[in-house]
Amino acid sequence: MTMPRILIATLLVLLAHSAASHPQFNEAPAFRNGKSCSPSPTEVVHIAMTLDYSTPYLRGSIAAVLSVLQHSSCPENTVFHFLSVPLHHPLLRSTVAATFPFLRFHLYPFHPSAVLPLISSSVRHALDQPLNYARIYLPSLLPRSLARVIYLDSDLILVDDIAHLWNTNLHSHVLGAPQYCHANFTHYFTPTFWSTPSLGATFRRRTPCYFNTGVMVIDLLKWRRHAFTQKLEHWMRIQKRYRIYDLGSLPPFLLVFAGDVAPVDHRWNQHGLGGDNLRGLCRDLHPGPVSLLHWSGKGKPWLRLDAKRACTLDYLWAPYDLFKHQMLISDS
Ligand SMILES: *[C@@H]1O[C@H](CO)[C@@H](O)[C@H](O)[C@H]1NC(C)=O
Repeated sequence: MTMPRILIATLLVLLAHSAASHPQFNEAPAFRNGKSCSPSPTEVVHIAMTLDYSTPYLRGSIAAVLSVLQHSSCPENTVFHFLSVPLHHPLLRSTVAATFPFLRFHLYPFHPSAVLPLISSSVRHALDQPLNYARIYLPSLLPRSLARVIYLDSDLILVDDIAHLWNTNLHSHVLGAPQYCHANFTHYFTPTFWSTPSLGATFRRRTPCYFNTGVMVIDLLKWRRHAFTQKLEHWMRIQKRYRIYDLGSLPPFLLVFAGDVAPVDHRWNQHGLGGDNLRGLCRDLHPGPVSLLHWSGKGKPWLRLDAKRACTLDYLWAPYDLFKHQMLISDS
């Protein structure tokens, strides 16, 4: 082998490495409004999501965006509000713009330093990521003019028009989400919580129902008016001192909102497809219709598909995957 060939091979390997550290996505098709869509700016659906450039969750977020657009009858009337660490904004802006050239989106800086002192370690490391807590700060991060937003996790896809979810009647509530009223709350909090009278009495005057915080319709005006961010932070401080639960950002939401949530049809969060905290567990859908599939839990469809150990439902996620797998360059 001559010197130049070695040099070229080395360069190709270096190129492959730099490409691997910058995830690439295929360009999504342009989705256009149907004739019945209103051109009025008040008829816009606002969606908030986090984007994490440093983890494979970005691949999930991109798939989620594609699924929203593909099933919207008025895709041009959707606006995405992405939260991410400021350091990644230039790369994220170019990645999102290249993947969805027609997307209406905004990027907002989420500073992990704001929440890091409040995070206590949970049973799953992935739940301790600061971006996981960004949903608590949506009302202060998004523009004051925004009255309502739908928050979506990164490990889900929609298979229905998001306008139906957007039109949820929140009545007097701040939040709307699918609820599960037969859940046993004993399991969500530690014995310390239940045995401390001032804490254990939290749910006494309520009928608390479990809800998953990965899909929420939020009245931002009411949230700001009643300072719910501070109420959530209050519980996170108690958690820091007394360890009253084992999960991440969910328990504070249950403590503040459970029993005070507008019901949303269960079809809008078919959760648990990641199989809880167990590896290799395939979950089935809950009975009833499906508008949104959510791989909450440890298993993610992109990991299982790449590992050739996919669960049957993971094949429903695959068509929304725009991730470009890097070609391996061999020196032949
Ligand atoms: C909830 O779970 C606890 C602990 O496993 C049990 O003692 C209690 O009876 C359960 N409550 C209901 C209503 O099932």
